[in-house]
Amino acid sequence: MLILGLDTSADDTAAAVSKNDRILSNIRSSQIDMHEEFGGIVPSIARRAHKANISRVVAKALKQANVTFDTIDAIAVTIGPGLAIALEVAIDYVKKTATTQKIIGINHIAGHVYANWAKNRNGNPKDSPEFPLIALIISGGHTELLLMDDHLSFEKIGKTLDDAAGEAFDKVGRMLGFGYPSGAIIEEVAKSGNPEAFEFPRPMEKHDSLDFSFSGLKTAVMYEIKNLGGMHSLSRKKIADIAASFQQAVFDSLLIKTVDACKKYTVKRLVLGGGVVANITLRRIFRKELKKIGVDIFTPPLPNLSTDNAAMIAVAGYYYAQYGRFIADVAMLDRDPIYSVEDM
Ligand code: KG4
Ligand code: ZN
Repeated sequence: MLILGLDTSADDTAAAVSKNDRILSNIRSSQIDMHEEFGGIVPSIARRAHKANISRVVAKALKQANVTFDTIDAIAVTIGPGLAIALEVAIDYVKKTATTQKIIGINHIAGHVYANWAKNRNGNPKDSPEFPLIALIISGGHTELLLMDDHLSFEKIGKTLDDAAGEAFDKVGRMLGFGYPSGAIIEEVAKSGNPEAFEFPRPMEKHDSLDFSFSGLKTAVMYEIKNLGGMHSLSRKKIADIAASFQQAVFDSLLIKTVDACKKYTVKRLVLGGGVVANITLRRIFRKELKKIGVDIFTPPLPNLSTDNAAMIAVAGYYYAQYGRFIADVAMLDRDPIYSVEDM
């Protein structure tokens, strides 16, 4: 089955082609330079750029996969969660172009989870995660712990009460003068810093729930910078120390709740997804700590599958198709900006 995946939920115009779960192409047109000066995504700018780019991005994805639109069997498109007027661009595109193709409406968070089931052209890696498992999705918009007993079955067992983990990276990066988005820059700068230089809080550590909170941590970093005389009086070494200590506090917070979740639900497999999972330090810390409690850990197995992309949407589409989850009539395709994975 040839699947065209599409995602315009945020600031990337993304298209990909898969043959079942094997990725044939994965194209993304980033708008970061357009949003950077605003320190976040401006929905109207995102919409305009998606509209300008989507045909070209799809054409590129088809060309790289060496297929034509007519041979596509199904179109898997993100319907939410995301920015309403941005989501609409891919949905409208499907309504205009679809002919004989089956239509699948994908939950973006499910897409981040299914990045872990992606295979390359040759069907590697061979192993896929087995159920039951826990998925930790950490991105710019979401931080969620999900329990999965089977394909397409999600129970939300933890979530952030305020900022998402990636959002905290972006806000702290802004305080340190790094521009937007700053997760990858913080990771780089943190390499020359000491993660124990500053004692930032591990929010929610003492709470019984599996929920997260990052807003207080962000404020603690802000006060520390003020205490030190403001951003402009910080040496390179101090900036690196703050970046490393902040990053460690985020990862410790994520880890504490994830370990609790694995123990509470006696689950032996963890899958990670979302932009923050691009962080190599996070992968290393999680691998080391989860090994201690006998939990196998999966991360998106190919490059460019952690941050937003359409290959994960195509792979999710393959699993939706296995369960007959098609939309009967393309006219019924609609966006759902606050779509929860539990409602799918
Ligand atoms: O999944 P994603 O591309 O978009 C959303 O669905 O939100 O995630 C983007 C987020 C941004 O907040 C960005 O700063 C963060 O992922 N991010 C990182 C890294 N690369 C991207 N955070 C930490 N370390 C990284 N290397
Ligand atoms: Zn995302």
